[in-house]
Amino acid sequence: VTTGLIVPAAGRGERLGAGHPKALRPLAGEPLLVHAVRAAVASGTVDTVVVAAPADRIDEVRSLLTGEVGRLAVVAGGESRRTSVAAALRSMPDDVDVVLVHDAARCLTPAPVFAAVMAAISAGAEAAIPTVLIADTVKRVSGEIVIDTPDRAALRVVQTPQGFRRTTLERAHAAVGGDLTDDAAMVERLGVPVRIVPGHPEAFKITNPLDLTVAEVVLSRRAGAEA
Ligand code: CTP
Ligand code: MG
Repeated sequence: VTTGLIVPAAGRGERLGAGHPKALRPLAGEPLLVHAVRAAVASGTVDTVVVAAPADRIDEVRSLLTGEVGRLAVVAGGESRRTSVAAALRSMPDDVDVVLVHDAARCLTPAPVFAAVMAAISAGAEAAIPTVLIADTVKRVSGEIVIDTPDRAALRVVQTPQGFRRTTLERAHAAVGGDLTDDAAMVERLGVPVRIVPGHPEAFKITNPLDLTVAEVVLSRRAGAEA
């Protein structure tokens, strides 16, 4: 198989409040996007990378990633994560038959998560996603009133990379409407089974300012472990 990585990196990062696109926000001196792509390439699962970047930062993103990846394309992302992924998918070289979609904002994802997703696809899954258990009790609400409490054991938090047979992901993007924030949701609506594999706490998404602090701690702990 030839595996292509799609990195949606065109978001504004409003919750982080960075004042510039989140994927270009520095962490330990380098943009989140560089950390994310480097981790994916280091996992040894990826042959080609297509990044969906903010439309006015394409040249900058290309030069940031040159030398990190063998085969690289950078395209303009869209207004939503979904349209950013679709733009990257259209630019994926023809020989790619498995696609991993991985948020730039999950920049510390450990290699075993990539490997687990790829292993499930290699074993025949059309789609595979990393998940972790939920720490908190979750309530369903309406306005300010609690409706009920779903059984937590049946719920999972979803991470990336999400892996797909390319044809399945293309079919899902073509057939399923709605501004979904996750590619697996489109595949589910096709009726195609989506397999879960173990995620990792360090595959968390940098969303809010506290997440940057956590990411710095994770990186310095890793640096300490190497020394
Ligand atoms: N993303 C994208 N194109 C968009 C929106 C999001 O490529 N139009 C990407 C982000 O860059 C990020 C991933 O999708 O890597 C997950 O999105 P999210 O965490 O929501 O990032 P942002 O949309 O940038 O953040 P916010 O929602 O706080 O503005
Ligand atoms: Mg967003």
